[in-house]
Amino acid sequence: MTKIILTNDGSHSLFSEEADEHYHSKLGAISESLHVFIKNGINRTTKKEIKILEIGFGSGLNALLTQIKCEKENRMCHYYTLEKFPVKRELISKLNYCQKLEINETIFNKIHDVEWNVEQIISPNFTLTKLEEDVLNFRTKVKFDIIYFDAFSPEKQPKVWEEAILKNMYSFLLKDGFLITYCAKGIIKRRLKKIGFEIESLAGPMGKREITQAKKK
Ligand SMILES: C[S@@+](CC[C@H](N)C(=O)[O-])C[C@H]1O[C@@H](n2cnc3c(N)ncnc32)[C@H](O)[C@@H]1O
Repeated sequence: MTKIILTNDGSHSLFSEEADEHYHSKLGAISESLHVFIKNGINRTTKKEIKILEIGFGSGLNALLTQIKCEKENRMCHYYTLEKFPVKRELISKLNYCQKLEINETIFNKIHDVEWNVEQIISPNFTLTKLEEDVLNFRTKVKFDIIYFDAFSPEKQPKVWEEAILKNMYSFLLKDGFLITYCAKGIIKRRLKKIGFEIESLAGPMGKREITQAKKK
């Protein structure tokens, strides 16, 4: 079962009993997503047209924050996101993200209500392709500027962090593209480096340990 929890910044997150894992930091879901994926993700490229791949669509918070950013800056984003276990719609309706961000719910609802597995226009600068797929089997010919690697942790889902999967991520990136993740474990950084990524450790959100940027050379 998946349950809603309240995090320290007042925004909701989810807890999966099956995975025994939270979807975001308990210190703050919105704060964490803004720090890891907006400030250290999309903000680190100045490109006017961007392709992003997210691993783990979850509550759709990263997709929403990226859409807001792209509309604000008039930058075109093609956002692809993978999810093996889509969250029930009733649960999504109870999340307080729009209330906390002081926006109306139209875009968030659209992000969740559009059909899976086909590209959908969410707003003038944001298209969304939600893929109901297992990252372990995922292959694509599309090349991305950024990968938001937001899977559950290596402790809980070691297979997702295996070298073969991270190698696939490397192959999905454009030259100078990068992967960003909240994970700062030494073993994962060494694995990424071995594949050929250039690693940069960045300050974590809310005084938490570092996060990792892995750039394709
Ligand atoms: C940390 S949460 C992602 C949070 C999400 N980005 C958000 O903004 O709410 C990890 C997500 O990865 C999904 N997931 C777990 N195993 C997966 C797999 N093998 N392939 C694709 N998605 C998976 C989980 O169901 C969960 O939604």
